[in-house]
Amino acid sequence: MDSLDAYAERKLAALEGRNLRRVLVPTRREDGVHLWREGRRLVSFSCNDYLGLAHDPRLVQAAQEALRAHGAGAAASRLVTGDHPLLGELEARLAAFKGAQACCIFGSGYLANMGILATFAGANDLVLLDELVHSSLWSGAKLSGARVLTFAHNDVDHLRALLQAHRHEHPHCIVATDGVFSMDGDLAPVGDLLATCSAHDSWLLVDDAHGIGVINEGRGAAHGHDVPLQMGTLSKALGSYGGYVCASKPVVDYLKTRARTLVYSTGLPPASVAAALAALEIVEHEPQRVAEPLRKAQLFTQLMDLPQATSSIVPVIVGDATRAVALSRALADEGFLVGAIRPPTVPLGTSRLRITFSAAHEDEDIRSLASALRRALEAQA
Ligand SMILES: Cc1ncc(COP(=O)(O)O)c(C=O)c1O
Repeated sequence: MDSLDAYAERKLAALEGRNLRRVLVPTRREDGVHLWREGRRLVSFSCNDYLGLAHDPRLVQAAQEALRAHGAGAAASRLVTGDHPLLGELEARLAAFKGAQACCIFGSGYLANMGILATFAGANDLVLLDELVHSSLWSGAKLSGARVLTFAHNDVDHLRALLQAHRHEHPHCIVATDGVFSMDGDLAPVGDLLATCSAHDSWLLVDDAHGIGVINEGRGAAHGHDVPLQMGTLSKALGSYGGYVCASKPVVDYLKTRARTLVYSTGLPPASVAAALAALEIVEHEPQRVAEPLRKAQLFTQLMDLPQATSSIVPVIVGDATRAVALSRALADEGFLVGAIRPPTVPLGTSRLRITFSAAHEDEDIRSLASALRRALEAQA
């Protein structure tokens, strides 16, 4: 019989052999763009802190005050004693910002997606996922026990064909997509997806983890469309931690009584909620800052002769995992942190550099990165 250790060692060796083993690297962020790793100070193009808010003094102060006043942890699930009043305040602010009736805050974006899908889809239902959606939507779909089918990336015709073939076999159907795709940076065709869902009596879930604070004046990729489930996270552009969904009041009320990842998980620490409230205030009142990540991404795509960026995420797809890792190392040697993304995070043969842009980057940082990347690509050619 396999011992647990032998099993783990065998699996690790197999991953190592394909250059797919991942390791944690202790990293200390110094501000919105600089960080320390393995004794080196690097300019990061890998963080999702798109507005540079995680270190903003206003967020830090709000978190410090909440920490002192309310303690470090929430002590219990929101349904027990963990429903700090700041959560209700943030939910009301987020719902108003997103133009929704109500909002429900979860412990993280991952927990939100799992909770939403498993609450509104069950064993007899159908969940249709864009093939490139985030792992948390796959996990939620699995947890729901529903039949799960995928449609080709951003392919509304394929979605329609699947709905025509299978919608009638199930009482309910949820279609889920990222609003901004986390590894590709492209946007979902939200209007067309919504129209297709309406025509086939299905509910649309848009995960705007990378859209909130960046796209459509910060309101996200689903803004302007009547999407019934608008999910997002507090942990990227909003610089804090936690997840949310904006929806109608009955939908939110039902989630608050049934979503297992909300009911059976400790509420967010009040300090994280206070920081997110301060971030939302900034997003609402500083439109120039909100416009910067996309402008910077577009400066980079222009310098690199890449298709124009549509979000703060730009992929440079190189195919082979070893090549992506070598490019990432070469950039680190020049002072830049750019992550190499490999399978299973992205499909086989599409390993890439994933480059993210923040309002906190200087244009000069972007020009230097573009030159360094050109040199690294030429050295590999
Ligand atoms: C598209 C997408 N959805 C959901 C999540 C999960 O959000 P969180 O980090 O708040 O758990 C992420 C983050 O990695 C993401 O990229």
